[in-house]
Amino acid sequence: MSKKEIDTSMDNIISLCKRRGFVFPSSEIYDGFTAIYDLGPYGVELSNNIKKEWWKAMTQLRDDIVGLDSAIFMSPKIWEASGHVKGFSDPLTECKKCHSRLRLDTLLEEAGIFADEKMSEEEINKIFDDNRGKIKCPNCGAADFTPGKKFNLLVQSNLGNFTSDWTKDPTYLRGETCQGIYVNFKNVLDSTRVKIPFGIAQIGKAFRNEITARQFIFRTREFEQMEMQYFVKPGDDMAYYDKWRETRWHFYLDLGFKEENLQWHKHENLVFYAKEAYDIEYKFPFGFKELEGIHARGDYDLSVHSKASGKDLSYLDPTTNQKFIPHIVETSAGVGRTFLAALTEFYREEKIEDETRIVLAFPPKLAPIKIAVFPLLKNKPELVAKAREVFDALKLNWRCEFDDNGNIGKRYRRQDEIGTPYCVTIDFESLENLEVTVRDRDTMEQSRIKISELENFFRAKI
Ligand code: GAP
Repeated sequence: MSKKEIDTSMDNIISLCKRRGFVFPSSEIYDGFTAIYDLGPYGVELSNNIKKEWWKAMTQLRDDIVGLDSAIFMSPKIWEASGHVKGFSDPLTECKKCHSRLRLDTLLEEAGIFADEKMSEEEINKIFDDNRGKIKCPNCGAADFTPGKKFNLLVQSNLGNFTSDWTKDPTYLRGETCQGIYVNFKNVLDSTRVKIPFGIAQIGKAFRNEITARQFIFRTREFEQMEMQYFVKPGDDMAYYDKWRETRWHFYLDLGFKEENLQWHKHENLVFYAKEAYDIEYKFPFGFKELEGIHARGDYDLSVHSKASGKDLSYLDPTTNQKFIPHIVETSAGVGRTFLAALTEFYREEKIEDETRIVLAFPPKLAPIKIAVFPLLKNKPELVAKAREVFDALKLNWRCEFDDNGNIGKRYRRQDEIGTPYCVTIDFESLENLEVTVRDRDTMEQSRIKISELENFFRAKI
């Protein structure tokens, strides 16, 4: 695929997101706020549907995983113990000409030179030095940079600190949701019936002071994670790790993603806690990039929190009486990245005669609106009343939208663009024979269905 085509399709997705109320740049009336986005009316529905599917797969359909919702703010001691205060950083360089701050590993990678954020400051600077001149600033084209320096990604705050020099003793907005799971491990163990092996799942916001945030919602400073930590007996972790890799791969196939758009990436340089790590990568318009990380974290997390807090976080096996610190297999996916992957996967442009039809061909479970209901004409009260009646009945079971604006063709196009699988139109005949037209988004075929049959019809389809 040529660069131009890649850019075009990303541009089309971004434009659709703004035009149709999926994603808005944050604080837009104040000229925006870099690397933060808001979800519009259809974006919040899509995002909720993704989270619902994940939550169902990871909790409802299993008897070995329970949920949790820990707070964003936690004791700063957690981030010290976890290693984030010292070790959670990306290499930063500054262009000496335009003063853009850039992520050094990304700069090298874009110039075709292997590097990643997990390399030490010395390692990455050595590669940088060896390739001076080859690397240009993406903003001004200059090739003169400051040496790379590790920059900590934790976002600081003054929560609960009322002094003017709070930066010496900050609290942190969580950099990953899983720390809330580790520090509640004992609470969950003591308050539920879970027995090892078991998991704790959580969906929530995380914050990182990302140096460069490009590629739309792919890398943002505020984002949502869907994380699950699976606690196992030492020695069992790699077998469970393989199972979780398989399970998580199938999650994306079940969402309707094509297998050819997914690939595995094994980490060569591991972060400080990981024993082994694989990413599931998705083929975004800008290439294959990380969608989800699956990590074998060993006993690192519970051990460091046990040591730093002085609380025993070991597990006593009730059958063998054996006591041990559980090992952890983690699955960690981004809501925003799954959202962008879904837009990429299901975005279609079709030529119909001289027109281009844009469709988000979402499976019904992801579609923000499942059914749109239209009266044929908005100035005919009897049609509007009947359409309202149909809408009021369907909305009890599905997220529906009532629309009486513009001609029917335009209303269909609008629903195609937001991915609504079915549209129901009430016309004059409907008042006589109580039948409505149901139009299928993908085939564009229309069929007449009795109003009394609609619920069964949609139950079978959605
Ligand atoms: N607890 C492990 C952890 O946080 P990670 O690889 O740093 O691992 C996991 O992040 C997932 O969170 C990523 O695969 C990605 O989907 C999402 N993610 C991470 N940083 C992100 C960012 N700045 N913007 C959007 N999503 C992000």
